[in-house]
Amino acid sequence: MQHNKILILDFGSQYTQLIARRVRELNIYCEIHPYNKIPADSESFKAVILSGSPNSVRGESALHPELDNIRGKKPMLAVCYGAQYLAHFSGGEVAESNSREYGRANLSFVKSDEVFFENIHKGSQVWMSHSDTIKQLPTNGVLLASTSDVENAAFKIEGELTYAIQFHPEVYHSTDGAQLLKNFLVKIAEVEQDWTPQSFVEETVDYLKTKIGNDKVVLGLSGGVDSSVAAMLLHKAIGKNLYCIFVNNGLLRKNEFEDVLTQYEGMGLNVKGVDASARFLDALKGLSDPELKRKAIGRVFIEVFDDEAHEIKEVKWLAQGTIYPDVIESVSATGGPSATIKSHHNVGGLPDFMKLKVVEPLKALFKDEVRRVGASMNMDKQLLGRHPFPGPGLAIRILGDITAEKVRILQEVDAVFINNLRSWNLYDKVWQAGAMLLPVNSVGVMGDERTYEKCVALRAVESTDGMTADWVNLPYEFLQKTSNEIINKVKGVNRVVYDISSKPPATIEWE
Ligand code: XMP
Repeated sequence: MQHNKILILDFGSQYTQLIARRVRELNIYCEIHPYNKIPADSESFKAVILSGSPNSVRGESALHPELDNIRGKKPMLAVCYGAQYLAHFSGGEVAESNSREYGRANLSFVKSDEVFFENIHKGSQVWMSHSDTIKQLPTNGVLLASTSDVENAAFKIEGELTYAIQFHPEVYHSTDGAQLLKNFLVKIAEVEQDWTPQSFVEETVDYLKTKIGNDKVVLGLSGGVDSSVAAMLLHKAIGKNLYCIFVNNGLLRKNEFEDVLTQYEGMGLNVKGVDASARFLDALKGLSDPELKRKAIGRVFIEVFDDEAHEIKEVKWLAQGTIYPDVIESVSATGGPSATIKSHHNVGGLPDFMKLKVVEPLKALFKDEVRRVGASMNMDKQLLGRHPFPGPGLAIRILGDITAEKVRILQEVDAVFINNLRSWNLYDKVWQAGAMLLPVNSVGVMGDERTYEKCVALRAVESTDGMTADWVNLPYEFLQKTSNEIINKVKGVNRVVYDISSKPPATIEWE
């Protein structure tokens, strides 16, 4: 790949991935690497960004990157900890701030004619989050901007293309943050904005053709965005040599297996639908503990997938929809790089399909980029906009043990809820939604009869990555209509509640 690329050195800030996303939004390719694992080919990066950090440059927890090949040789933007690092170890001074400087502040320019500030509004709002403060600029430091509480809010180094800012341009609350990053990358570092979904598709298809040749590839489709986009890219590259397997574990949404399978076939994919519902339900019989349910489902999935993969003669590759957040090596709070999350080793004891060579066409992309890549291949909008759905499906939304009847009830409830979200144009405003079947019966009256039936909870959250989430303030009228419809239509349910807990402390799923 010949694109311009940016190196982001991570010092463990919670915002590092956001920096990368903002850079990618400018159609510029970037990679995140731990501060102490600078890639050997660092000269191939056009510019470097130093992230923030929970650590302090003062004292023993200071993190020391090896910048000899970078500093003064490449354009560099140092954010928060990065800025403090440049100050403290190059002739300036960082001290503990009197108060933790956290939240909104407004920039006043000391040098307003800087290219760095082009199209940035006077008094522009920026987001601060630090407890140390830069008391004195480093050698050759030139002050560019201040805020009412932070004198040295932005500076550059005379004679270098090195810029430093105390605030976080990557967060939403820094209203001109994207423009500032653009000024640095495009105007100052002269990086080309050549990373687009179309170019990604073309290059990836070429790469996959060369890498895979005439080999056969097996891929497990889930109905979700990642595996579907990965399948489409591989399909463009190798056509019928891509063998897709879509397993019905009996815990999908109502009609999902049939609908999605038809959709996949319509996309021209070589896909086999395997209905293993009975096998999964059997393995779940009598299990109430959520972790045991997850394990049983994982085990049966591997068995089913392995059986199916054996049906494909001489398959050489396993394709996966792994995305970038799954593979970024993160820097832990103590400063050491922590382990990668997913790995695939050819070790003994694994099912045969896991011993295949692995191909992961989306492993450089964030979720929103996966959607943009899918859109650039004209994939169905509804498929690309689907809410996340957990692998164990409705099993972790049925509290307690699982029976076919409970699955039926929850599928019906969920279908009413999701269909209504769609018809009220609320679906795309919600990050994830679903219904939970509670292990509670309660008294109700229907007509003249007393009932003693199930209670369901509806949950709709907004989030960016599922790590934190808040409940969505759905209109009362929507909740009222949906609740009525569920109780009237779904036999076995006489009470509906709406979950108004945020994560943390609650989780999104109830199990
Ligand atoms: P929680 O419940 O932890 O969920 O707040 C966060 C996100 O993860 C999904 N989730 C799962 N996905 N297997 C999955 O593939 C699981 O076992 C699982 N548990 C939770 C959940 O739907 C939400 O998007």
